[in-house]
Amino acid sequence: MKLHLDHSFLKESELEAMKDEILTCHHLLHDKTGEGSDFLGWLNLKNDEEELRRIKEAAKRVTDSSGVLVVIGIGGSYLGARAVIEALSSPFAEKKVLFAGNNASPDYLNDLLDFLQDKNVFLNVISKSGTTIEPAVTFKVLREWMENRYGLEEARTRIFVTTDKQKGVLKEIASHNGYETWIVPDDIGGRYSVFTPVGLLPIACSGIDIDKLLSGVYDAIDLYESIENNDCYEYAAARNLLYRSGKKIELLVNYEPKLHYLTEWWKQLFGESEGKDGKGLFPAGVDNTTDLHSMGQYIQSGERHLFETVIKINKPYRDITFTIPEDSIDHLDYLNGKKMSDVNLNALQGTIIAHTRGNVPNLVLEIEEINEYTIGELLYFFEKACGMSAYMLGVNPFNQPGVEDYKKEMFRLLGKI
Ligand code: PA5
Repeated sequence: MKLHLDHSFLKESELEAMKDEILTCHHLLHDKTGEGSDFLGWLNLKNDEEELRRIKEAAKRVTDSSGVLVVIGIGGSYLGARAVIEALSSPFAEKKVLFAGNNASPDYLNDLLDFLQDKNVFLNVISKSGTTIEPAVTFKVLREWMENRYGLEEARTRIFVTTDKQKGVLKEIASHNGYETWIVPDDIGGRYSVFTPVGLLPIACSGIDIDKLLSGVYDAIDLYESIENNDCYEYAAARNLLYRSGKKIELLVNYEPKLHYLTEWWKQLFGESEGKDGKGLFPAGVDNTTDLHSMGQYIQSGERHLFETVIKINKPYRDITFTIPEDSIDHLDYLNGKKMSDVNLNALQGTIIAHTRGNVPNLVLEIEEINEYTIGELLYFFEKACGMSAYMLGVNPFNQPGVEDYKKEMFRLLGKI
């Protein structure tokens, strides 16, 4: 993975000047002296072997019986798993992992219940606090549905719980019913928890090799530990420099539909980590080339308050080569012998040239191909860049006090005392 910075907007001298800030924030992270330092368990993550064994065993039960796992969780309790599963699966494959509890829509839940009628169903309810209302009400409905369908005893063996080790209503329900339980570590917050059981159990149930994923993470932990020549820190510095120069929005740009949920995960990671105290870049995303035909006009010529971070994948998993006969009436002769990936990559290059010319700085993250290892590396890269970037911005990367405000109002309206 390689980061390319936009030298038409970012001067080497500016980045050089950030070195002291990088050093200071590196120490805030690694010496655990910054705000929120109780939540740095992800930084040098080491997974417990016994826990991984249990995850694989539970996943085997689900996959061996052609089961469908319904993951009930919201925010950091589902986005990481969904990002990884979608990045590594065919969009047309039958889904082995479904997501619920990430909204409060009765239509969504009823449609899901209809869909589950003839499926072999397992549940994984995930909530660190164990009290979040969307997953709580969804779990209540799905748990009752499971008990009616399978009977109390069998339902008990089909429900997996991922929550805090000792507190919260979910923990109480799990202990009371004897559900198999995994722990969300105390020192890892939701949006940094994808490589704990929060993400690993659903990912394993989708058939993905979690060892390969974790080897990408562990290598990234080593790779991005040094202060010098650290792409992760340079990305954090570049986005802060662009913010200070007046940019307000960062668009994460992909050219692979499979990466849509990676962008959703990234939006939550940066949005909740940085958007506080009246500060922070607004994280948004586009899926290209699709969105070049919807948002492209604005990006090219609308208000100049944005920059882009482009994820460039060099090689598709499988390519398509065009053969255009001489007498073809398709008007595509210039593509004879070229590949579909040439179209995609030239669209990407052409868009970078056009947008840069239109005064939109472009940073590029170049990745050889999408696989378990590179996805593990990429997600860790963003987690560490986010911690670094938030410290550079002067905010606590690990809290989300603003999320409580809507809850207070909702509970008041619902009559909760
Ligand atoms: O990043 C976070 O901490 C949040 O997005 C949480 O993951 C989200 O609010 C869900 O919380 P919980 O897992 O406690 O249900």
